[in-house]
Amino acid sequence: MDMVFELKAKLKCSGDLSGIVSSPEITEFVSFCNHDLLKKGAPPGCGAEIVWWNVGEERIELKIVSDRFVRAHDALLRLKNELGKLLGKHRIGIRGVEIEEYKMALDWEEEEGLRIGKLPFVKEIKQENGKLELFLDVDEVSLEKRIPDRIIRLLEDKKEAIRWRGKKEHWELLFESPKKTFYFDKDPSEEMIKRGWIRHAAGRGQWIYGPQLTKIFRAFEKILFDDVCKPLGYEEMIFPKLVTWDVWKRSGHAKGIYPEAYYVCTPKTRDPEFWEDVMDYYKVTNEVPIAMLMERIENVGGMCYAQCPPFWVFLQGKILPDEILPIRVFDRSGPSFRYESGGLHGIERLDEFHRVEFVWIGEKQQVIEHARLLQEKYRGIFNDILEIEWREAWVTPWFMAQEGKGGLAELKEVGTVDYEAVLPYSGKWLEFQNVSVNGDKYPKGFSVKLQSGEELWSGCSGVGLERWAAVFLAQKSVDRDKWPEKFRAIVGELPEVFRFL
Ligand code: SER
Ligand code: ZN
Repeated sequence: MDMVFELKAKLKCSGDLSGIVSSPEITEFVSFCNHDLLKKGAPPGCGAEIVWWNVGEERIELKIVSDRFVRAHDALLRLKNELGKLLGKHRIGIRGVEIEEYKMALDWEEEEGLRIGKLPFVKEIKQENGKLELFLDVDEVSLEKRIPDRIIRLLEDKKEAIRWRGKKEHWELLFESPKKTFYFDKDPSEEMIKRGWIRHAAGRGQWIYGPQLTKIFRAFEKILFDDVCKPLGYEEMIFPKLVTWDVWKRSGHAKGIYPEAYYVCTPKTRDPEFWEDVMDYYKVTNEVPIAMLMERIENVGGMCYAQCPPFWVFLQGKILPDEILPIRVFDRSGPSFRYESGGLHGIERLDEFHRVEFVWIGEKQQVIEHARLLQEKYRGIFNDILEIEWREAWVTPWFMAQEGKGGLAELKEVGTVDYEAVLPYSGKWLEFQNVSVNGDKYPKGFSVKLQSGEELWSGCSGVGLERWAAVFLAQKSVDRDKWPEKFRAIVGELPEVFRFL
């Protein structure tokens, strides 16, 4: 992408410059900038240039034009530093920088479906003749934070996102299990509602699981403990279920989670007086005054979404000795939440769901090898215990999808295998768990290092209990008699607690 940057700035000084206005020092300085300082790091003939300058009583104004090699804002920061040294000799300081105008012009092929109408820190956008012109509204702090570079990155991201939209998410078949006999052709959620095993809860996409299905979930967990955790050496941990923004910034979720998060807020203060009008309003109307409430609370993050990200705070900033690798831990301490598309989906698609999350950490080869071992264990469970029909597919990595990206990771070893099974009653395939090699993303994001200096990688795998149930019961029926012998033995008898009149 070809780019031109034009920046007009005013450097406000702490003393009178009239003594040095016409001194050769200033002309020499501009010449040094244009020939040396603002060209450093750029290919020959490229870089930034001061095209106009004017020294006033207590200020220096200048205009910088540049290409993408030394962007005008970088040029300005470089120049300010050097100028500070020069003025220092005259006991004059630079008090501040005012950005009067900043225009970025980029080569811009129109992409169907992409309209750049609004951008942060941009007051005006013009799009014509294959060019995109952005008039920025920035101050010195935004330049130091590299806001202009980030706007360009954002535009590239938007272009990429548009190219991926319309195309399907990546999906490539890796493995297919043998065909199995199905014993059911109905929706198991409906059947369980009829039998009083589950009931829709008060919240959206939220269910209350009665003793029977809960016992089935616990049987799934037991299978995971006996057939995955024990042989592969996993230890249990408890990961937080409230996730603050700091975690989601490091995990990348802050880029794209917004339409799907369940948000968590705290009161702005615990002072009961601050809340008195809210309480009074409720007492006289029996309505919770949501609008009043919103003014008195503050968002701090959201509910558990991907399960593994908040675990990483445990390791954040630490150096690990090589001998403790591979680390293998799992969490099953609480639900995850997603604001799913509306409508009734039974237990197949939920806003509140339960998952066992496995996380492993090691050197690159260890992590890849461990993913393979885990896949082997899963195959054993599906073939010999649950006896279901399923398949594996190579898909867009979950951590990219959750950032709002499509496609695949740059490295072939990094990515996600989804497990899917057919639901005989609808003929649709349902994703019920995944296994991923996440590369160095998490150790990097949370600054975790290895003593030897070797690269640290990680992987994770999420097993959705409701999804396992949705698949198993859809294929094998809700009748215990029809279940495979081994599974029946693990579950035991199903408890009967409630009866309704
Ligand atoms: N963290 C992974 C995901 O959200 C595995 O559960 O898909
Ligand atoms: Zn995970």
